[in-house]
Amino acid sequence: MKVTVVGAGNVGATCAYAIAEKDLVNEVILLDIKEGLAEGKALDMWQTAPVRSYGTYIKGVSNDYAASAGSDVVVITSGVPRKPGMSRDDLISINAGIVHDVAGNVARYSPDAKIIVVSNPLDAMCYRAYLTTRFPSSRVFGMAGVLDAARYVAFLAEALAVAPGDIHAMLLGGHGDTMVPLPRYTTVSGIPVSQLIDRQRLDAIIERTRSGGGEIVKLVGTSAWYAPGNAAALMVEAIVRDQRRVVPACAYLDGEYGMKNIYLGVPVVLGRNGIERVIEIHLDDEERELLARSADAVRSTLDAIVP
Ligand code: NAI
Ligand code: 2OP
Repeated sequence: MKVTVVGAGNVGATCAYAIAEKDLVNEVILLDIKEGLAEGKALDMWQTAPVRSYGTYIKGVSNDYAASAGSDVVVITSGVPRKPGMSRDDLISINAGIVHDVAGNVARYSPDAKIIVVSNPLDAMCYRAYLTTRFPSSRVFGMAGVLDAARYVAFLAEALAVAPGDIHAMLLGGHGDTMVPLPRYTTVSGIPVSQLIDRQRLDAIIERTRSGGGEIVKLVGTSAWYAPGNAAALMVEAIVRDQRRVVPACAYLDGEYGMKNIYLGVPVVLGRNGIERVIEIHLDDEERELLARSADAVRSTLDAIVP
């Protein structure tokens, strides 16, 4: 299997490094438009291999898509990140052009690839990549739910003083303030979370999760990268190792959850073929309403990317 990461900025470089540490493939191609950036970071990562004991070679290239030819998985992280005061949607016009350009090259050089989009605004950028590549939707999807669920779990683990790895959570919807964390589908080693925390504290954690990206932008001046890069690498691993992991991902809906012609976060089975299937879980009236509102927010961004 061959993996390419496009964009050698904060998220792309972290993702390439996390993939190398997992020793999933012999070589990762790291590509950026900025001359020398990917080459330099790739060299630094390769020099880390003896220290961290991985064998994956990271090859950095400047906009040379021929080097990425025949990739099985491509992660698209190219684009501008948020600055304080900006929403993810403020990035749309710049990033739609970048994602269109990158996705066109991926389709040309790696026609069988599975594409994991990371660039924001995520749901709209997935749609952009889908329109540009004309790949089946099972091969074009986005990373956000793994990150948003990780934030939710991290806050819960802190509040409950338990191991993060023992908490399982699902969330739905767009990668924005309207995302829908699902307390009814959150468990701690099988125990419903509602038995371990009162509603008020849980609601506060859900609110903090919704604005979790913005919290970091305010502190750092740009958006997060450790959790996003590692979350994308987790999805790469699920595909490369055909793990059939059940994770939230931004997927094209064609009737699932009563919606069509939209990319939205839903639980999926992730394996060798990309999205093996979308899982439809039962939603109560309130959850359904929240999901519909989130879909409306995503739809309001789509005009900017659909020609
Ligand atoms: P960054 O600015 O550190 O890196 C972006 C890189 O993309 C830069 O190195 C830039 O040179 C490169 N680039 C720009 N145009 C390109 C092109 N046409 N071809 C190849 N490379 C190109 O930004 P960062 O922090 O890595 O974020 C990347 C994107 O990921 C942003 O849009 C950000 O909002 C998004 N993001 C999404 C998350 C998610 O959960 N889906 C989480 C965190 C960030
Ligand atoms: C994040 O959630 C900004 O999407 C980016 O950190």
